[in-house]
Amino acid sequence: MKTVRKAIIPAAGFGTRFLPATKAMPKEMLPIVDKPTIQYIVEEAVRSGIEDIIIVTGRSKRAIEDHFDKSEELELFLKERNKGRLLSIVEDVAQLANIHYVRQKEPLGLGHAVWCARKFIGSEPFAVLLGDMLVDSDKPCLKQLLDVYAERQAPIIAVETVAWEETSKYGIVGGVELDDRLLRIERLVEKPPSNPLSNAAIIGRYVLEPSVFDRLETTPRGAGGEIQLTDALQQLASCETMYAYRIEGKLYDVGDKMGFLKATVELACKDADLQAPFLAFLKYRFGSGEGGGMR
Ligand code: UTP
Repeated sequence: MKTVRKAIIPAAGFGTRFLPATKAMPKEMLPIVDKPTIQYIVEEAVRSGIEDIIIVTGRSKRAIEDHFDKSEELELFLKERNKGRLLSIVEDVAQLANIHYVRQKEPLGLGHAVWCARKFIGSEPFAVLLGDMLVDSDKPCLKQLLDVYAERQAPIIAVETVAWEETSKYGIVGGVELDDRLLRIERLVEKPPSNPLSNAAIIGRYVLEPSVFDRLETTPRGAGGEIQLTDALQQLASCETMYAYRIEGKLYDVGDKMGFLKATVELACKDADLQAPFLAFLKYRFGSGEGGGMR
């Protein structure tokens, strides 16, 4: 029985959709309410049972390392001022998980970023969580996949049903529907320009096995001129059993401005301190119910 203890979080992209904010700061550090995106993702991995995480970083990614490190000066400052609650928030971040880093020297694509972490993974199955995709769900998205992996012992990819006209923005899987949520994958295509296999879109959570590294080694550049993880998985799908799982939860592509804004509003509406004043503000500003338009 193979168990998954390690996860890769690729966070080395240029984040061009968020320029100029991402000129000197990684997009994974943009905050949703009061936490950087990447912290939500590390927390999802930890709540799913992952013990060791490797973050693939690139240029200007020092802020990520500093965020998950101990901050002696800040902790002393908060201690001296009796700010106990803030102190424990800050201390907890540095103790979330065993976090390691590897550098992707050039952002050659998601597939290449995953390949950069191969030495850390060794011969174990592992998870991949994209650094800019948030999933808000009761059961962590990765845990949903790991439960299926425990049963099936084969690679599994999280998918979501998207509108047909949106399929060209995603990696798309096609296969045999085994039940409402589970598919056995036959083919995968990254950002199909036309005739998509289905409208089941890959959403940035995977449980994979190390055989993918050999495929990535020889995967040529694909969509967008990048080395695509989907292309390596397509090669594997012809000789290995792989599954896709329609996850439960709300997905936010926070590397995209609209996704980022939606996640910010939704999570602010759930925040214990902000909920009441923020909802009151929204009601005042935009009205509600019939006839409630922008004032
Ligand atoms: P994206 O394609 O969304 O990230 O990759 P990007 O290229 O930074 O974004 P835009 O399109 O220019 O705005 C999904 C995830 O994979 C990482 C990104 O950091 C992001 O978390 N990634 C992407 C890498 O780590 N390396 C790469 O070469 C590409």
